[in-house]
Amino acid sequence: MSTTPAASSDDLPSTRYFSRPLPREGFPDRGMPAADAYELIHLGLRVDGQPSMNLASFVTTWMEPEAERLIAEAAATNHIDHEEYPVAEAVEQICTRMLADLWHAPDIHRSVGVATIGSSEAIMLGLLAHKFSWRKRRQDAGLPADKPNVVFGAETHIVWDKFARYFDVELRKIPMRPDRYVLHPDDVAERIDENTIAVGAVLGTTFIGENDPIEELNDLLVQVKAEKGWDIPLHVDGASGGFIAPFAHPDERWDFRLEQVASINASGHKYGLVYPGIGWLVFRDRSYLPEDLVFNVNYLGGAQPTFTFNFSRGSAMIQAQYYNFVRLGRAGYTAIVYNMMANARYLNEQLERTGRFEILNPGLAEPVVTFRLKPDTDFDEFHLSDQLRQHGWIVPAYTLPPDAQDVTVLRVVVRNDMSRDKVDILLRHLDEACTYLDGRGMPTTEDDRRTHEHQRRRC
Ligand SMILES: Cc1ncc(COP(=O)(O)O)c(C=O)c1O
Repeated sequence: MSTTPAASSDDLPSTRYFSRPLPREGFPDRGMPAADAYELIHLGLRVDGQPSMNLASFVTTWMEPEAERLIAEAAATNHIDHEEYPVAEAVEQICTRMLADLWHAPDIHRSVGVATIGSSEAIMLGLLAHKFSWRKRRQDAGLPADKPNVVFGAETHIVWDKFARYFDVELRKIPMRPDRYVLHPDDVAERIDENTIAVGAVLGTTFIGENDPIEELNDLLVQVKAEKGWDIPLHVDGASGGFIAPFAHPDERWDFRLEQVASINASGHKYGLVYPGIGWLVFRDRSYLPEDLVFNVNYLGGAQPTFTFNFSRGSAMIQAQYYNFVRLGRAGYTAIVYNMMANARYLNEQLERTGRFEILNPGLAEPVVTFRLKPDTDFDEFHLSDQLRQHGWIVPAYTLPPDAQDVTVLRVVVRNDMSRDKVDILLRHLDEACTYLDGRGMPTTEDDRRTHEHQRRRC
């Protein structure tokens, strides 16, 4: 008997390739219908975690439909082509001026900024500018300029280490104290000298979500300038905090109100509330951007200055950022930040009420909750993270950097799609996970131990 189906599967939509793997190895010889290509790739991607349940990430997972429409409309615009797209380019300049204003630049028409792919590119560009300025100052004074160093703490993101290695700058990284997870000005004072191109400070640390003592660091650098003549710029990494502090704590002085703060970066795709990838770098004054870092090209028609690592890039997220700025304004951002902070505070309080957890950042500089299990719990943070994964939540467990490596934490990033109901569901799942793990103890069999070790490494 024939097993051939009565109707050819070619007659049915999106099923022709269903029982065959998509091309994976070599370049495919032939194509396939658009509907099939879409459906099969789409189905594959749905196996991934749900972005809105990924509480590890700071990156935006929800935008308004109007913003999404603008993104789709701008998808074909290559932002670097200023000659062809002068309006798109002007939007970038407007956004940087708005940020200079938000961050209290003394004169927003003298500040200068640029859109990047994210904070990583922005930090590298900012530090590179400080390296060039330092070198020029040294050369002009007839002093050696071959041993630059950069000073920052272990609480920084990996991009700071990358900068030092990629751009051949001595890294003077300050270990985390076992009982303090942000910089101490004394530790900075010990490491700076006439070859320090910049000091780095973080507003909203990756590990704990706290702020470095930026005002104190500024005071230290002002004093050093007066006493020793070393004019060391402070770069503030506001990847997440740059869009929180101005709305949650407007009186807190961490930005261009402070004399030595020369440059600030922030991720538009974090609390700037835009999908990835968009970051921002702003200098307090254009004198901080050395001319020899800006290139002019003529091959797209007209003279175009460029100061980014990438050349071609999409314009969509820049337009989406502008949408958020004009759509929300200060009042809108303040309201959204208020809600996120309220939900983070609620999560903090409920976690404390369980009696099981210790909160590591009770001050909540930003809507990020970091917590750990109280001593003498039967299981550890890696078990708990893994157990939550079974419900679809991604809540990372990780150890802090040296010298606080004995501290293991769990972190929940509260974003604008983390409603109060979702927080309650998470709390219920946390409770169920703890009840399940209670009494099971730490792994005893060799197999369990191996699985646990694997989880620790994966986390
Ligand atoms: C403090 C800090 N700096 C820099 C970065 C890198 O930012 P991006 O992912 O936008 O490149 C992050 C990312 O999480 C961060 O938390």
